[in-house]
Order: sequence, then C-alpha cells, then structure tokens
Amino acid sequence: MFPAASLLTILLLALSITASPVEIRDSPITLPIARRLNTSGGTINLLQHDQSRATALKTVDRDTLSRRTGNTVATNDVVCYTAAVGIGDPATIYNLLVDTGSSLTWVSAASYVKTSTSVDTGRPISSSYGSGTEYTDTVTLGNLTIIQQPIGVISESTFTGITVGVIGIGPLDLTEGILGGSPPTATIPTVTDNLYIQDMISQIVVGVSFEPTTSESDTNGELTFGGIDATKYTGAVAYTPLTTTEPASYYWGINESITYGSTTILSETAGIVDTGTTLILIASNAFSAYQSATGAIEDETTGLLLITSTQYSALMNLNFNVGNNTYALTPNGQIWPRALNTYIGGSTNYIYLIINDLGTPSGEGLDFINGYTFLERFYSIFDTTNSQVGFATTAYTTATTN
Ligand SMILES: *[C@@H]1O[C@H](CO)[C@@H](O)[C@H](O)[C@H]1NC(C)=O
Ligand SMILES: *[C@@H]1O[C@H](CO)[C@@H](O)[C@H](O)[C@H]1NC(C)=O
Ligand SMILES: *[C@@H]1O[C@H](CO)[C@@H](O)[C@H](O)[C@H]1NC(C)=O
Ligand SMILES: *[C@@H]1O[C@H](CO)[C@@H](O)[C@H](O)[C@H]1NC(C)=O
Repeated sequence: MFPAASLLTILLLALSITASPVEIRDSPITLPIARRLNTSGGTINLLQHDQSRATALKTVDRDTLSRRTGNTVATNDVVCYTAAVGIGDPATIYNLLVDTGSSLTWVSAASYVKTSTSVDTGRPISSSYGSGTEYTDTVTLGNLTIIQQPIGVISESTFTGITVGVIGIGPLDLTEGILGGSPPTATIPTVTDNLYIQDMISQIVVGVSFEPTTSESDTNGELTFGGIDATKYTGAVAYTPLTTTEPASYYWGINESITYGSTTILSETAGIVDTGTTLILIASNAFSAYQSATGAIEDETTGLLLITSTQYSALMNLNFNVGNNTYALTPNGQIWPRALNTYIGGSTNYIYLIINDLGTPSGEGLDFINGYTFLERFYSIFDTTNSQVGFATTAYTTATTN
C-alpha cells in the first residue's frame, strides 16, 4: 500500500503546482443516479436521520480524522441516491449509495460476490459505517474499469440504509485512520483517485447533477467523473476554495452566508455540501431566524416546518451567498414535493419546508449542510485537483415541480 500511497502524494503535489481550471470534457464518464424512497416503513422521520448524520459528521477525532468513537454516519432509510457499481470479474452490479461525506467504497460481507479478481489484503478496516476487511478488486464505473481498487468488505455494520454499500466520493484524507495496523495518516485511494492514477480521467473531479422529481423512484441524477457535463447546467460555473475551517474542511467544506430577502439568516461561516443529506440543515440560531422570517410553525408529526398557502405565496428567495455569487433557492425550491408528503408522514396538501435545524448553534466549524434539496437546484462540482467546489444554475433552478 505504501508505494501506491506515496505515488498518490507525488501526483497530488505535482497537481497542486500546476492547478488549472477544470476542463469540460466532450465525453464525460457518467453514471446515472437513481433516487429511491423506502415506502415500506410507513411514516419515517426524515429529519431525525439527517440530524443524526449531521451529529456524526461533526464528531471527528481530530488526531486521525477517523471516527472510531462509535459514531455512525447515518443515512436515510427513507430517501437515498444510488449508482450502479460493478465489482469483480465478471462483475456483480451493486446499487451503492452515493456519498460525498465518506471516502471508502464498501459492500456488506453478506452481499459481496468474490471472483478471481477479489484479493483479501488481510488488513482490518474500521470505518464510520462499520468494520470488516480490506479487499482489492476490479471496480467498474460505467464503461471504465479500475483494477485493484481497495474496497471495504464490511461484516459488522450499524448502517441501516436501503443499499448494501456505499460509493465514497469524499476527499482522500477522510480515509485516514480507517486501515488497522497502518500509520494513522495512511490513506486508501478513492475510486476517483484511482481513475486518475490509472489514467482514465485527467483531473480528480466529480460533477453531480440531480433533477427535482416528484415520483417515488426515479433515475434523476448523474455522476460525472473527471469533468463536468455541460449539458446539465446553464450559465457559468463559479468555484469557491475549500474551507480551511475544521471540521467542515474534512469534507467538501465551503464558506457561505445565507440571507432571506434582506434578513441575514446565517452570517458567513463554514459548512459542507453533502449528497448523503436530504434536507438543508442550518445552525439552530439561523433556523430560528428563518422560522421567524417565514412565520412557519414546527410540525410535530414530520418535524419539518409547516407554512400556510398564504405564507407560501409570500415566501421570498433564500439566498446562499458563496464568494461573490448568490444561489437563490426559490420558494418552490424551499418546500418538500407535495406529491411526496405522505411518504414522510405528512398530510396531502400541506406545505412543508426543507430547511431545518442542524441541532447545534453556529460557530462550531460546521454550521450548515447543503443537502440534496439544494443540489437538485444547482449543479455541483467536487474538485480535488484545484481544492474547490463549484456550483452552477440548471434548467431546474427555478422549477415549480414541488
Ligand atoms: C465511455 O462512454 C462514453 C459515453 O458515456 C464515451 O463517450 C466514451 O468514449 C466511452 N469510453 C470508452 C473507453 O469506451
Ligand atoms: C425501510 O424503512 C423501514 C423503517 O425505517 C426499515 O425498517 C426498513 O429496513 C427499510 N427498508 C430497507 C429495504 O432498508
Ligand atoms: C473561511 O472562513 C474562515 C473563518 O472566517 C476564514 O479563516 C477562511 O479564510 C475563509 N476562507 C477559506 C477558503 O477558508
Ligand atoms: C469578488 O468581487 C470583488 C470586488 O468586485 C473582487 O475584487 C474579487 O476579486 C472578487 N472575488 C472573486 C473570488 O471573484
């Protein structure tokens, strides 16, 4: 593992010297992302899942970055976004949860089908999703084949999601400390890193597109490795440097402020962009300010904010200010799709807001999570090569589908 790790370090150092803007590829390598709603569980508390994930993400061992303290990165039992990933040769296709908040790609030991390309390295893995053993195997993403990709085969998991595993597209450093018996700073290359190392993409970049959807199961997203898909956004992409503020900096962290009309909801602070969170969570004080500004009440059944149709008509844009750019979440973008109200335990025709409480006050270094409900309105780019996150408007930014 050491030769590969140091090779990666050299490559990353070389890249940091020659940082250049992301090129737009003619033929991006894309994987469709499907959204799945788990409708079998009756009324499910979406908020509770997002908040427990937020707590786990904020609780990081500052020495090693590892989260061996028993915290689980909870994911939603109710909504998840998956991509079809092949492992082995011949490949078994697994629908894996797409997670920008973790960096290990893993499958459960129970579902792992071993082939001649599956190699048990004998090294224990202890990740935020559970523990098991490291394997290397052939991993197929669309028409690209990565050889000897380290993966986790997780035998003891606290994961309760709808999928049998995760494709982790978070930053490389998030894999520090998960490999037992190695120095705490040892890392495991992510699939994106290996696509680069094995010369299939020219930059360590992932572009993510989601489209708002009101059906319970839909292929409404796209993951592009190595570049961005120009057909999925409108206007120009604006980039912002990754934040230096911990713990947001361990993930895809950025600085932003949030305003509602002329009211400041959240002063400029650090937070993260996360495909594994459904709602948009903001620090408790900001949440109170948003609730006051909108006049919403907290609905006990769903935990979400509830507004009347009169309040909905009066709703203003919620502006996410990143660098010199403002990403305006329209009133329709601030509400849960009404067609899906009953899936989250809500009542038909009620209007629920998708902004909610992170559960902790601002000033803790991770004060907001721009989750899926943000990402379905703005194309997003996770750029390791240039240490930045990009956003662009899309054909759906002002959609009224909700
Ligand atoms: C992979 O598929 C894309 C289209 O999705 C295509 O443009 C590209 O040329 C293919 N690459 C290879 C190596 O076949
Ligand atoms: C669906 O949600 C229910 C309730 O949370 C859970 O018990 C069940 O395991 C979930 N189904 C799947 C396939 O994850
Ligand atoms: C983000 O905010 C922090 C705290 O104000 C500041 O130190 C930092 O320079 C800002 N920018 C970046 C890229 O981290
Ligand atoms: C933001 O705008 C200011 C004033 O126009 C300009 O000086 C600065 O370079 C801009 N920053 C970025 C990151 O574009």
